[in-house]
Amino acid sequence: MIKEIENDLRDIVGEDWVVTKREQMEDYLIDETPASARPQPAAEVVLVKPADSQEISKILKLASEKKIPVFPRGGGTGLVGGAIPTKDGIILSTERMEKIEIDKENMMAIVEAGATLEKLLKAAEEADMLFPPHPGDEGAQVGGLVVCNAGGARAVKYGIIRNYVKGIEVVLPTGEIVNLGGKLLKNNTGYNLMHLMIGSEGTLGIITKVIFRLYPKFGATATLIVPYENRHDAINTVPKILQRGIIPLAIEYVEKDTIEKSAEHLGKKWPCEEGNAFLIVIVAGTGIDEVYSESEKISETCQENNSLEPLIAESREEQDRILDIRSNIYTALKPEIADILDVTVPPANMGKLMDVIDKIAEKFNAYIPTYGHAADGNLHPHVMVEKGKGLDHVKKLKNEIYKAAIDLGGVITGEHGIGKIRIEDLNLCLSEKEIQLMEGIKKLFDPNNILNPIK
Ligand code: LAC
Ligand code: ZN
Repeated sequence: MIKEIENDLRDIVGEDWVVTKREQMEDYLIDETPASARPQPAAEVVLVKPADSQEISKILKLASEKKIPVFPRGGGTGLVGGAIPTKDGIILSTERMEKIEIDKENMMAIVEAGATLEKLLKAAEEADMLFPPHPGDEGAQVGGLVVCNAGGARAVKYGIIRNYVKGIEVVLPTGEIVNLGGKLLKNNTGYNLMHLMIGSEGTLGIITKVIFRLYPKFGATATLIVPYENRHDAINTVPKILQRGIIPLAIEYVEKDTIEKSAEHLGKKWPCEEGNAFLIVIVAGTGIDEVYSESEKISETCQENNSLEPLIAESREEQDRILDIRSNIYTALKPEIADILDVTVPPANMGKLMDVIDKIAEKFNAYIPTYGHAADGNLHPHVMVEKGKGLDHVKKLKNEIYKAAIDLGGVITGEHGIGKIRIEDLNLCLSEKEIQLMEGIKKLFDPNNILNPIK
């Protein structure tokens, strides 16, 4: 079936942009999901790299007509198998579409889906503005960031990706190209289809262009590393910082063994010798005085809550190094990970969640390294590969952590999404009615069920 459409695809995108040899598409058959949890790619797959939304429209019309699955592909940095071609079909990569235009007057960036986060961060900076969020891997592409509603660090002050998206161009599974939203800060015209697309994980449409809101560059920033002997004291400080009226750009929680491992993995050194648990706080303001004064207040609050002496990094290099070490914990641990969770609870319940995870670790006699986005209530406990313990062990451990999060008013995923590998857990926190409504929406957008099916 796939063989039959290869020539049609060549007619649409040109000979050079259709890849049929398996060995030339290996990188497109996986994502960043830990190997043991990662779904198998299907046997018969063709990879296409269209140049624009018109070509994508033609591909989707063809696929709809022939009822052939299409798997949209960005940077492949997902952690739940969302981009993996799990059925025979077409992998559609938007990598050639990477233009970025900056609208200085409106303080917005108009970005094609294949531009990487790294490129977007640079373009905003060159225009003397800032794209604040930092969802980890800078190789992620904009289309993926938006359909996965990425979170990450630097979400405390202005929010996650959803909060920056003002407009999108999207190609529907049936081939129509629609523009949702625009360069608008207020828009109440009907149901908000744009926000329905954000977080739809490539099941409702292929995003081809995004209008992001940018922010003014900060006059100064500082990164504090606050060491604690005791994890609870670290977590309990977080609401106190916010209640004092300080909204940092990021407040991350990390632990000694994992952050040191990440530093080592990068050939760098974690700069803090003291403590077992750390908060990493990024403070941003209009000028150095404001940043100093806020850093001072944060240090004070932390020390009132039993922290050791905070370290403060002011140079750009040092701050980038700390963020890089934080962003690479997952990569450093990956070979030993069976699954990475991203459970999310009301922020004030973080400490309680960590206590339950300790109990679960004890019960299963398991090592569960944990870190996360402390001010967002978003925690990453890792289920590790353990000799002699199979998939059943992983599943049991995962389910207990999910249940603990749900009991504390949380959800099974606040960041990485459902993708392929969380589908069977969806009913743990969504009602039958909610799932039914979602299925109805999927049918309406994609009557032939071709776009990222069974995701
Ligand atoms: C992080 C990714 C794994 O926070 O979400 O590092
Ligand atoms: Zn994260």
